[in-house]
Amino acid sequence: MLSVSHLFSLLGLASIAISAPHEKRAQTIYLAGDSTMAESGGGSGTQGWGHYLQYSLSLPVSNKAIAGRSARSYTVENRFQTLIDTVKTNDIVIIEFGHNDGGSLSSSDNGRTDCPGAGSETCTSTYNGQTVTVLTYPAYLVNAGKALVAKGAKVIISSPTPNNPWESGTFSYSASRFTTYSKSAAQQIGSSAMFVDHGQYTANIFKTMGKATVDTFFPNDHTHTSPAGADAVSRAFVKAVLCASGGVLDGFVKNSTASVEGSCV
Ligand SMILES: *[C@@H]1O[C@H](CO)[C@@H](O)[C@H](O)[C@H]1NC(C)=O
Repeated sequence: MLSVSHLFSLLGLASIAISAPHEKRAQTIYLAGDSTMAESGGGSGTQGWGHYLQYSLSLPVSNKAIAGRSARSYTVENRFQTLIDTVKTNDIVIIEFGHNDGGSLSSSDNGRTDCPGAGSETCTSTYNGQTVTVLTYPAYLVNAGKALVAKGAKVIISSPTPNNPWESGTFSYSASRFTTYSKSAAQQIGSSAMFVDHGQYTANIFKTMGKATVDTFFPNDHTHTSPAGADAVSRAFVKAVLCASGGVLDGFVKNSTASVEGSCV
């Protein structure tokens, strides 16, 4: 026979199970980035790391990364605006650019290069016959990040993946300015944003794996990864998040910190 206390405990459990998904649970994780993150990775035989992230997370992942994009062109093509219009409270947006953001505006403007600098500097440029105002890399990310947060989303600003750090024959990785800029952008967006040093975590596991293995991750050039390479890059991201106690992904990572290769930095 069911006692009153059993009945209360059953009701208690039932109400927890029913209410939890509606309160603090995120709905969808969106990815914004370039070919190194995008589906198919932007080349023959390549894959982007965003493809593998779904296997480590308990939320659906919607990969909106597009090959060839920079913080600037993702903005100008209204791709951030589409995400801002789409996100709901507690969605999470992972933003990772940098591979297409460098270069110079002075000789010719490819539509991707950002204005140099870490702050509110602007550049006047000519692109496609039009005079345009170009912002800095952090400015594009802070503008997008703040608008996403205003919609109730949480944001991860991630440093770019390294090019093959073994390509010279010996291991060499030094963070680009986009790592510093990404960290600064996350701080400026505020407490609903976190920085993930994906570049450093990837470099660290690539160092441990050694040249022979890592060279096979870059079948075409030193930037775009094979499927196995993309999987390793995705695992480095998961490790970085776990080492930060989950941050905005707390509760949504399937793996324990110790179960993922690499060490916390
Ligand atoms: C996390 O666990 C899942 C399920 O076992 C597995 O598919 C995935 O590869 C793991 N991720 C990492 C980063 O180890």
